[in-house]
Amino acid sequence: MGKIGSGNGLFISFVKTVFLCMAFLLVIGPAFSGVKAEDNQAGVEDAVNASSNTSNQETISQSAVNTSLGCSYRTHVQNVGWQAYVSNGAMSGTEGQGLRLEGIEVKLDNVIGDVGIEYTTHVENIGWQNYVKNGVMSGTEGQSLRLEAIKIRLTGNDAKNYDVYYQVHAQNIGWLDWAKNDMSAGSEGFGLRLEGIRIVVAAKGDPAPGATERPFVTTNIQYSYQTHIQNIGWQDWKKNGELSGTTGQNLRLEAIQIKDENPESNIGIEYQTHVQNIGWQGWKVAGEMSGTSNQGLRLEGIQIRLTGANAGLFDVYYEAYTEGFGWMPWVKNGENAGTEGLGLRLEGIKIIIQQKGVTGPSPTENELGSMAQLVNKNHSVSAEYVPGDLVWVNLPSTRDTQLRADAAQHLIELFNGASAQGLTLYCCSGYRSYATQTSLYQWNVDMYGVAGAELVSARPGMSEHQLGLAMDVTSATVDFDLVENFGLTAEGQFIRDHAHEYGFIIRYPQGKTNITGYAYEPWHLRYLGVEVATTIHNSGKTMEEFYGIY
Ligand code: DAL
Ligand code: ZN
Repeated sequence: MGKIGSGNGLFISFVKTVFLCMAFLLVIGPAFSGVKAEDNQAGVEDAVNASSNTSNQETISQSAVNTSLGCSYRTHVQNVGWQAYVSNGAMSGTEGQGLRLEGIEVKLDNVIGDVGIEYTTHVENIGWQNYVKNGVMSGTEGQSLRLEAIKIRLTGNDAKNYDVYYQVHAQNIGWLDWAKNDMSAGSEGFGLRLEGIRIVVAAKGDPAPGATERPFVTTNIQYSYQTHIQNIGWQDWKKNGELSGTTGQNLRLEAIQIKDENPESNIGIEYQTHVQNIGWQGWKVAGEMSGTSNQGLRLEGIQIRLTGANAGLFDVYYEAYTEGFGWMPWVKNGENAGTEGLGLRLEGIKIIIQQKGVTGPSPTENELGSMAQLVNKNHSVSAEYVPGDLVWVNLPSTRDTQLRADAAQHLIELFNGASAQGLTLYCCSGYRSYATQTSLYQWNVDMYGVAGAELVSARPGMSEHQLGLAMDVTSATVDFDLVENFGLTAEGQFIRDHAHEYGFIIRYPQGKTNITGYAYEPWHLRYLGVEVATTIHNSGKTMEEFYGIY
């Protein structure tokens, strides 16, 4: 009996203490916590209701401590040393003085029940340290190393009843938003010091002390992407500009999916694809598929953009390997990659996310043998390279000459188009081997000197003629010669205005010597295929400008 009575007495006195405590907090709680008085009031009322509805001691004690738990912390500030402890949302550190935090100690006040606090800091040159708990220092002292970020969490069986909120003042950024329960606050990868911090422990479910959109900024962001390819299906995940898809195999992309592996980056990613017969599909978010699978429909274009609180700090770059075009120029932040309205399949894609202000990725050159391979004074082919599909060109010519099969076929159509206008074109020089180009260049050097030769003749290995994709054409009206006046003839004007319709461009236009390195050659046709030639013709750009490769 006595034992039981004594036990009950203890229990009753404990409950009394708890209720006294709560009454006290009804008055002083809001001032400590830094959250709105009404919110705290509601929290306390909930706690009272919860405790009066049950006789379970454990539940009473947990609910009762909801609003009594406080948090105190102090920071070690550059040039100042350890500051005095502050509590419950007050600032520790400095603001606007440019002084770094170097260390921090955090502890809980008025602890009742099983709850503790632990924290880790991201230290200059070191990174995330091990967690320490209950007032132990995190960071360094006397080493002049800045804190850059912090994570704080509650521990113990009763931690589930609370949220710990914290926000930091970061160099160049100012006050970031509130983080909670082990989220990162501050920055990573930018080398920015923490200057101030505020910490609050709130009852679970209470509103956050302020905005929570953007507690953390990091350069460490990672997105993976995978594509669904004709005849293959889903490929492995790729990242950081790796190729997803194929090149030179004529296999269409049918779908793409992007994966977000940065829960703390405060960046999201969205993408939409232009699908054969369907058009633009609408924006998808990370984790969703864009495109189709098993319907045999090609992707033709793609747009990718960043969203979220930190989106403005980064650019998303992507480039598409497109039927006919090969690697097209990198685009960014929602621009179109690929084509629209040309009915051309995407075959491969590369995606890179970079901090703003950093130079974007360099254009990818098209591989040897691709119709869109660029050859110029800076981009050469080897002496051994001979195209695999050369054919003799069966057209009016000043000599026998060869081209790659597809180019030859389209040249026939071009000549037919000219004939239909009563014009006769003549082939002059198509494929030239490395050896032939060597003698030709030397002949020009002997004739005009090096500077003169450089304007009219490519060095061996640097001629489009070695690709089997260039043909010099002429007419009787200029005595079958290769001269600038050819551009003024009806034949010259026909190819200027119509060559692209047959897949050719005038590769060295007038007024572009500063880009191509060559004088105007109204006779030199470069085969690229109808879509690419038309696109480049309509752009008014040289091949260098179009692909962004010089
Ligand atoms: N005449 C052009 C530049 C060549 O030699 O390829
Ligand atoms: Zn030529």
